[in-house]
Order: sequence, then C-alpha cells, then structure tokens
Amino acid sequence: MNITIIGTGYVGLVTGVCFAELGHAVTCLDINQEKIDALKEGECVIFEENLEGLLKNNIANGRLSFTAEYESAIPKADLVFICVQTPSGEYGKANLSYLYAAVRACAQHLNGYTVLINKSTAPVGTVTAIKELLREIAPEKNCDVASNPEFLAEGVAINDFLEPDRVIVGVDTPRAESALREAYAPLISKGYPFLVTIPQSAELMKYASNSFLAMKLSFINEIADFCELVGADVEEVAYGMGLDKRIGTRYLKASIGFGGSCFGKDVRALVHRGEEEGYEFKMVKALIAVNTVRYLVVMNKLEKHLGRLKGKTIAVLGLAYKAGTDDVRDAQSLRIIFELLDHCARVRATDPEATEQFKKDFARADEVAYFDTALEAAQGADATLILTEWDEYRQLDLVKLKSAMTGALIVDGRNILNRKTSEAAGFTYEGIGR
Ligand code: NAD
Ligand code: UGA
Repeated sequence: MNITIIGTGYVGLVTGVCFAELGHAVTCLDINQEKIDALKEGECVIFEENLEGLLKNNIANGRLSFTAEYESAIPKADLVFICVQTPSGEYGKANLSYLYAAVRACAQHLNGYTVLINKSTAPVGTVTAIKELLREIAPEKNCDVASNPEFLAEGVAINDFLEPDRVIVGVDTPRAESALREAYAPLISKGYPFLVTIPQSAELMKYASNSFLAMKLSFINEIADFCELVGADVEEVAYGMGLDKRIGTRYLKASIGFGGSCFGKDVRALVHRGEEEGYEFKMVKALIAVNTVRYLVVMNKLEKHLGRLKGKTIAVLGLAYKAGTDDVRDAQSLRIIFELLDHCARVRATDPEATEQFKKDFARADEVAYFDTALEAAQGADATLILTEWDEYRQLDLVKLKSAMTGALIVDGRNILNRKTSEAAGFTYEGIGR
C-alpha cells in the first residue's frame, strides 16, 4: 500500500520505518526541512535502538522516502497517518493545533479514496472533530477518518511496533477497517491481536492505558515512601506484589517519579477532557499530585545529609527521562536540577545520550557544567545523584567514583546500585524506599 506519515518525530519516524519494513511504500512528511534533509541522507534524527539500520535499509531498497511537500506526499496515499505532537496546553488541555494544521494542510491534496488516521494521542471526540473539519473545508473529498493510537515506548519502540501487545483501530466504516487490516496484515498474520472498535473507544483506550500505567507508578512510589518510614524494602514489596499475576511485576519500579513527553501531558489531558463533560477523575488527579512533588524526595535526601545546599557541589548522573533515549521532555532532571540551582548548589551533569537535548530544553542550561563521564562529573562533588537508570551507571567503579568526590553521599534515584557494595566503597547510600 502507499502510506504517508505526517510528522517524523519519535512516533512518525518509527511508524514510517516499520511500515516500510513490513513491505509498504512509505513517504514521511514533515514541515521541518532540516529534519527531512538529514533523514533523506539516512541520518537518524533521534536516538532509538535499531532505528538507524532499518532507516538506511529501507531508503536503500526504495520503500522509504522523505519530503516536506504535502502536494507530492498526499495525493498518492491510500492511508495517511497523522503523527504530530499534541502537547499540553492551557490547564492541561491537549493542544490540537498541530493536528488540525496537518489535517488542513493535507485536505486539499487528498486524491481518490483515502483513510486519514490519527495516530497522535488526542482526546476522545477528535476523530469526530476531524470529520467535521473535513466536511467544512473539503466536502468533495472521498475519505474516512480513523483512530489508531500508538502504544510504543521510547528505547524499545521498534520492538513495540513490530511485536505489539495489540493494534487498536477505531473506525466507523468497513472500508476503513479493511484498509487498516491490509496495512497491518503482516502483523495480523503473525498472530498479534488486532482489535477493531468504534473511534471513541480507541481514543479513550490510549488515555486509559497511559493513566493506568502512571497510576501504578505513583502507587508504588507512595508505597516506597512508606517503606522508608517502617523499614521495609520497596524492591522486595514490589516483587512480591508483582508475582500475583493479576498485578504483574512491570511498572512497579519505585523512582524519582515518572517523566517523558506523554504520561504527564496525557493524564492532565484526561482530567481536562473529563471536566469538559462535568466529570471528575479523582484517581487520575491523585496520581498527578503524587508525581508532582516527587522531586522533593531527592531534595530531602540531599538536605538530610548535606544540610543547606548553598555552595554544595552535586554530580548528576543521567538527564534523559529514562534509559535508552536522548529525550528529556518532562524529565525529572529538569525539575530537580532547577531546584538545585534555586538552592544555589553547583551542578555537574552527565548523560551518555541526552546532554545536547538537555542544553536545548532547560531554561537555565548555562548554569550547569557538563561532562562526558560519571567520573568526570563526580570530581569534587559533595554528593552524586543518579537520575537515569543507564546500564553504565549500574556498572560504575564505586571506589573510583568515591575517590573522585570530596563527599560520600550517593542518592540512587533509580535503585540500580547495591547498598552493601556502595557502603563498602565508602558511600553513604540513599535509595528510594529501601
Ligand atoms: P515529536 O514532537 O517527536 O514529533 C512530531 C513531529 O511532527 C515533528 O517532527 C514536527 O516537526 C512534525 N509536525 C508538526 N506539525 C506538522 C505538520 N503540520 N505537518 C507535518 N509535520 C508536522 O512527537 P512524538 O513524540 O512523535 O509524538 C507524536 C504523537 O504521538 C503525540 O501525540 C504523542 O502523545 C504520541 N505518542 C508518543 C509516543 C512517544 O513515545 N514519543 C508514544 C505514543 C504516542
Ligand atoms: C509510555 C508508555 O509506556 C507507552 O506505552 C506509551 O505509548 C507512551 O508513554 C506514550 O504514550 O508516549 P514512555 O514514556 O516512552 O512510554 O516510557 P516508559 O518506559 O513508559 O516510562 C515512562 C516514565 O516512567 C519514565 O520516566 C520511567 O523512568 C518511569 N518508570 C517506568 C518508572 O519510574 N518505573 C517503572 O517501573 C517504569
């Protein structure tokens, strides 16, 4: 099939590359000309495991191309997937301006029967709104509108796309369903679940899934804080809980709180969408409240041992919101480093992939010193703070790390180190909930 993808960010690029890998002819379209120029050269514009190899292969075999022009990318498409950003707007409302701009830009170029599929995360009712918009601006066009929420997680995105737990399509015509079945046929034939619903259910499923996962995280973080009060170990508690198959061990890793471009914005958008209907999401609001003050756990641990942070030097290991990505959107590092600077602490930061992105995204980036390695960042530090669970931090030479520092405190915000080993290396160890 001829597939056009609008937006070549984390979702659009992975979707485009993977559909090409599945045998379709894919054109990826983005308004960012610089990105398109780089992608045409096979340069992967994001850090995502295994993406660059697939990108280069599919450009070479002619199944994948890139453009910034709607007029060439849209008319030939059987399916158009919209994968543009839907960031948090005022009061947490999803900002759909990029989405509607994409719909408007492609409407006039639709040619023959086309299915316009929204893959961006957008509140329940968006498919209906897109249909209304198209009726208004391009009533003569022959197209269906569908929802196909994306569930990939960064760092494992290719795997999530090619080996999905499920593919969800929200459609209201048999023709749109059969076009989407054809697009996903290689996955359906391998037995991956393909669930067809009405558009509203598909749209809500995405928000309900992200909110449920975020709720699990806030729940275990709340348990972690209580563990510290009563001398329990959250790692043991979570593992034991997770052995109950109804609960499951995943998404029970206590931490400094969840970050990333989606959980935060999506839970806020669900609460806002509820309010539009006069409905209150009490549990979702509670999980947001827990996560919002999560940074205080780190600050309290530092102050407990160092007292006032003014003039203290803190080595921060990890800026990405999680390992395996260079993405720092809504990362806890942004909040925590902001607090540290506000407390007049000196920050020496490092990350194997995300430093450049952090410098672009963090308003006070020039107040931070950056280093290539953990050992360099730790030079002269009063405390070392682990914010991202990169493997290289699990394997740190703790004796060397300790001797690089002037202080002895290590705050392990991801519970990736062993308390005994850390203490044997001379550290005062603070984990989360243990
Ligand atoms: P992103 O910011 O990385 O990428 C969006 C891309 O769209 C950018 O390259 C931008 O230039 C382009 N764009 C914006 N307006 C355009 C237009 N009118 N025409 C063409 N291109 C345009 O965003 P992302 O992380 O890929 O997220 C996209 C959507 O997918 C969001 O709704 C997000 O919630 C959802 N989502 C993201 C993830 C994830 O892991 N990042 C996972 C599942 C779902
Ligand atoms: C998340 C979901 O997992 C995807 O299914 C979804 O498609 C995506 O959001 C989205 O809608 O954008 P992602 O944000 O890439 O994916 O990353 P996750 O691996 O889910 O991690 C989110 C945050 O939770 C990270 O900060 C991570 O460190 C934290 N986390 C995760 C924990 O603190 N503990 C855990 O056990 C798991």
